[in-house]
Amino acid sequence: MCGIIGYTGDKQSASIILSSLYNLEYRGYDSCGIAVKDLDISVLKDVGKVDEVNTKLNFLSLEGHTGVGHTRWCTHGKVTKENAHPLLSNNHKIAVVHNGIIENYLLLKKRLQKEGFTFYSETDTEVIPNLIEYYARSKSFIDAVQLAVGDLCGQYAILIMSTQYDGLIACRKESPLVLGVGHNEYYVASDIPAFAQYTNNVVYLNDGDILYITNKSYSIYNNNIKQQHPVTTISREIEETGKGDFEHYFIKEVMEQIDAIKRLIFIDQSIISEVAKEIIKAKGTYMVACGTASYACMYGLYLFSKIAHIHVNFCIASEFDNFKHFLTQDSLVIAISQSGETADTLMAIRSAKEKGAKVISITNVEGSTLTRESDYTILQKAGQEICVISTKAYTSQLAILIMIAYEIVGNYKEAVEILKDLIKYLYYLTSESMREYIKLLADKLKDKEHIYLIGRSFQYPTALEAALKIKEVSYIHAEAYAGGELKHGSIAMIEDGSPCIVFVSNETESSIISNAIELKARGAWIIGVGQRNNEVFDYFIKVRELPWLNSICQIIPMQLLAYQLAILRGCDPDKPRNLAKSVTVL
Ligand code: AGP
Repeated sequence: MCGIIGYTGDKQSASIILSSLYNLEYRGYDSCGIAVKDLDISVLKDVGKVDEVNTKLNFLSLEGHTGVGHTRWCTHGKVTKENAHPLLSNNHKIAVVHNGIIENYLLLKKRLQKEGFTFYSETDTEVIPNLIEYYARSKSFIDAVQLAVGDLCGQYAILIMSTQYDGLIACRKESPLVLGVGHNEYYVASDIPAFAQYTNNVVYLNDGDILYITNKSYSIYNNNIKQQHPVTTISREIEETGKGDFEHYFIKEVMEQIDAIKRLIFIDQSIISEVAKEIIKAKGTYMVACGTASYACMYGLYLFSKIAHIHVNFCIASEFDNFKHFLTQDSLVIAISQSGETADTLMAIRSAKEKGAKVISITNVEGSTLTRESDYTILQKAGQEICVISTKAYTSQLAILIMIAYEIVGNYKEAVEILKDLIKYLYYLTSESMREYIKLLADKLKDKEHIYLIGRSFQYPTALEAALKIKEVSYIHAEAYAGGELKHGSIAMIEDGSPCIVFVSNETESSIISNAIELKARGAWIIGVGQRNNEVFDYFIKVRELPWLNSICQIIPMQLLAYQLAILRGCDPDKPRNLAKSVTVL
C-alpha cells in the first residue's frame, strides 16, 4: 500500500522525509516523491525505488521546514512519473499525498474541468489539491479544506501542504494515519515505523479527524468538534536494526522465528486465558483474516476441533459480508492480522461490531487500527516484520493459537512445554545444513512453471501457505490441494515431471502416501516433507513429528525454499512485484 509521511518543525524537512521514505519501503511501492515548502513548493518525484529516485533527483537539494513524502503502490493510473505523488494544484500552491481510493474522483474531475482546471495525471488523488484550490478562491484555506474533504467519497489518509497555510493539515477516513509528537516538531505518517526513530509519542487519528499542525502546536477536529486524543508513548518495538548481517529481511525474519516464539512462552498467561474464556462463552466463534493470516485461521479450526473439541468457523475476511447475518451479540469474532491495517479484515470486524459481536484480535502491530477497534487484543510481539512476505508473524500466530487451545482445556503448561521443545528443534530447521539442502532442491525447481503441493488435516493449510510463499516471492505458479481432493479433478494437472511437494504427518501418513503414489503413477516427481522417508519420494526433507506443531515445523523449510527460489530467479525477496505489506484498500 502507499506510504505517506509529513514533517513540520525546526529542522530541514527533506532529510527527515527521505529517511522516513526508507522506513516506509516495506509497505511495497513502485514510485516515490517529496515536496518541500519554502516560499514556494518544490516537488521531486519519479518511478523507482527511493534510492534510485534520490540518486537521480537529489531529494536533499530541497530546502524548507515543512515537507511531505510518498511511496506509491498504484491503484488508479499506471506507474508513471506523472502519477507519482506529491500532486500539485493547478496554481502550484497546494501539494497533496494520499493513501486510499477516492471513489467519486471522476465526477469531481469533470466538475473541476468545467471550472477550467487541467489534470496532468491519471490519479484519483489529483482532484484533492484542485478542489481545495477551487474552494480557496472564495473561502479561507481551512474552510476550503473542509469543503473539499466533504466532497470526497472513499477511503483516504491525506496530507495537505500549502503556501497558504503555515504547517500541515491531515485527514483520515478508513486509511491509517498517526501523528508523531516531537519537541517543537511533528510527524504525520501511515504508520509508526515511518518516524519511530524520531519519537515514540504518538496520537492515533480516528475516521473523520482533521489534524491541523502549525509550527508550534496541533489541534484535531471531527465534525467541527475539537478532539482531545491522548498522546500514547508506545513501547519501543524490538528495535529494527536493519538487516544486520542478513542480505534480506526475508531470511532475517525467518531466522527470528525462534526469538518470536521464545517471547510468547513468557507472555502473561492471563492474556491467553481471557481469549480462551471468550471462546468457551461464545455462542459461535468466527475467525477472519486474509492471505497468510487466513491459513493461520484454518490451522486454528483443526486445533480447536482436535485439542479443545470446540467448533470454530472460518471465513476469509473479504467474503465475511455473506455470513455476517448469522452473528448475534453472543458471537465472537477473532481477527488475525500481522499489520492490523488490512482493509478487508477491518471491514469484517466493523460488520461484527454492528451486530454486537465481541471482537478479539491477534496482531503484531501495537496501536494498529485493529487493536484500537477490537474489544481485546493479543499482541504477537514478533518484532517488526518488514519483509512483504509474512514468515515469523505466521508461525507466531500458530503458536498463539496452540496456547489458546490448551488454555481452553486447562492445560496451558503443556502448551509452554511443547513450545519449548519446538524452539530447540527450530535451530535445526533453520540451520546451515538445512539451508544448504534446501538450496539444492531450489536449484531443481527454479525453472519449473508449476509446483503442486498436497496435505491433509493440519498439513492442508500448511500446503496452502507454502504455495503462497512460493508464488508471491518467486512468481512460480504453485497450487495446493487437500490430498483427498486430487481425484476430484486436480490430478488432471499432473504430467510427466510435475514437481509435487507432499506434507506427511503420522496422523495422515497412509492416506497422503496413497495420494503420492497416485501422483507418481502419472509421472510426478515428489519431495516428501515429514518424519519418515518413503520410496515414493524422489527427495525428502526430514522434519520431526512434534504433536500439533507440524504446521510450524514443516512451513520453515518451505519458507527457505521460497527464499532460495526467489534468489535463483533474480526476484527481490523483500519487495515482490505487485505486492504490499499491508493491503489497506478494499
Ligand atoms: C503474506 O505473505 C502476504 N504478503 C499476505 O497474504 C498477507 O498475509 C495478507 O495481506 C494479510 O496481511 P495481515 O496479516 O497484515 O492482515
